[in-house]
Amino acid sequence: MRLTITDRNPTKVRADVHVALVWKEDLGKGGIKSDDLRRLDREVRGALSTAIKRGRFKGGSGDQFEGAATSEKTWVFLGAGKRSDIDARGWLQMGSRAGCAVLRRRGKSLALAPRADLETPAARCLAAGVHLGAYRYDECRGKGTKPEQRLPALGALTLCAEGDGIREAVGAGDALGEALTLARNLVNAPSNFLTPTAMATRARAWGKECGFAVQVIGKRELEKMGCGGILAVNRGSNEPPCLIVMKHRPKRTAKASLALVGKGVTFDTGGISIKPAANMHHMKGDMGGAAAVIAAMGAIARLDLPIEVTGLVPSTENMPDADAVKPGDVITHLNGKTVEILNTDAEGRLILADALVHACREFKPSHLVDFATLTGACVVALGEQIAGVMSNDDKFRVHLCDAAERAGESLWPLPLNQEFRRQLKSDVADLANVAGSRWGGAETAAAFLQEFVDGPKWCHIDIAGPAFASAPHGAYLAKGGTGFGVLTAVAVAEELARA
Ligand code: BES
Ligand code: MN
Ligand code: ZN
Repeated sequence: MRLTITDRNPTKVRADVHVALVWKEDLGKGGIKSDDLRRLDREVRGALSTAIKRGRFKGGSGDQFEGAATSEKTWVFLGAGKRSDIDARGWLQMGSRAGCAVLRRRGKSLALAPRADLETPAARCLAAGVHLGAYRYDECRGKGTKPEQRLPALGALTLCAEGDGIREAVGAGDALGEALTLARNLVNAPSNFLTPTAMATRARAWGKECGFAVQVIGKRELEKMGCGGILAVNRGSNEPPCLIVMKHRPKRTAKASLALVGKGVTFDTGGISIKPAANMHHMKGDMGGAAAVIAAMGAIARLDLPIEVTGLVPSTENMPDADAVKPGDVITHLNGKTVEILNTDAEGRLILADALVHACREFKPSHLVDFATLTGACVVALGEQIAGVMSNDDKFRVHLCDAAERAGESLWPLPLNQEFRRQLKSDVADLANVAGSRWGGAETAAAFLQEFVDGPKWCHIDIAGPAFASAPHGAYLAKGGTGFGVLTAVAVAEELARA
């Protein structure tokens, strides 16, 4: 997307679609209070003020009004609520509603007038949000798709704003927006398109584009290393597994170092403990954690954050087959711990275990964060829009939740203690992969992972709910993959780089 920042009068900017934000503060009893909005009202021949008089547009967030300036030029007015109320998520939503307005009108370029003193964090969210709204998934549309069903890509954004650092902030927002788009594309991709091998190829290409190093550990190497968890889950599949290792090595580095781990199950049938048929197709998105980590590595590299970051993505399908692991089988993980697999559908923790051990041993990060669509229990607890966080360090968890919230994603803490670990006792092995009872499923999963974390401050983020939207989030996020986790991962890296 071509970006232009201009302090020109927005009525003079050329674009397919023009969007202006209207704040509560712009409107009073007598109608429009601010001069520049009055100018825009004149552009649309008074249609805005008429709509306001008739009570059809109040400037509240969610309100929208469209006015024609000329036969080919329309202005879309988006109610933005009170200027003093808006936070990161609000700015993301405003950007997204603008992007969405362009997409619906089949436009290729957007002129956006926020009509407020933009601080750099706001400018960044606004630009990232435009990508969220202009998104649609069309990688799988065939030749038969009618031209009118093909929506043009948004190619240019002109932002009417001025101020120190705005240009840089919008560039950063653009990088985040592109990362979010990649993550959503990966989640939405069907499993026959996005195999573990294809995911590794996408990671390599993204690494080249953004400037981070990618190494892919294949099946043979995983066998030599002793990654028993990844190999066990992979047994039922015809697609080879892999462990994707990504590295951002900046010139200047902070004291802290970060490892990001993402669950990359490209399809989860449940294996021999097979899932019911209804909604199983959603399990093509069981690599939402992987998508977030791969995508975030690109943004981190493009922002050139002064901190060393390693991304690790264990990837495989989870399939039933004559060769598949069976309930009761015992496997040995990379750190030598043995695990009795009581339920083959608790596969995410098995592949993450090896990746966590590898991360701690090889890279010795001071901080470790994993993202995983790990448990239905977490969705029951927190719903579809909030991720659960479990940690071995309360202070790090609090910092992480704050940073995520400021970046526009919601996380909520769930407990982690020895009681959950006790529930994973096995009759035959060091531990079992599921607890005897299904209560506290998100926490027992975290307790399992904790057995494989040695050294760093660690947060486990269960994104089973927010990685995938079964219905659109209001007018601003389409259903399907959401890219959840990208903003949190980048925010944590930025936070640690500053410390
Ligand atoms: N991938 C699923 C979790 C999931 C559920 C993600 C719903 C997204 C939406 C995971 O591998 C799984 O199957 N978890 C089981 C664990 C159980 C067997 C202990 C679950 O949550 O039922
Ligand atoms: Mn499963
Ligand atoms: Zn799964």
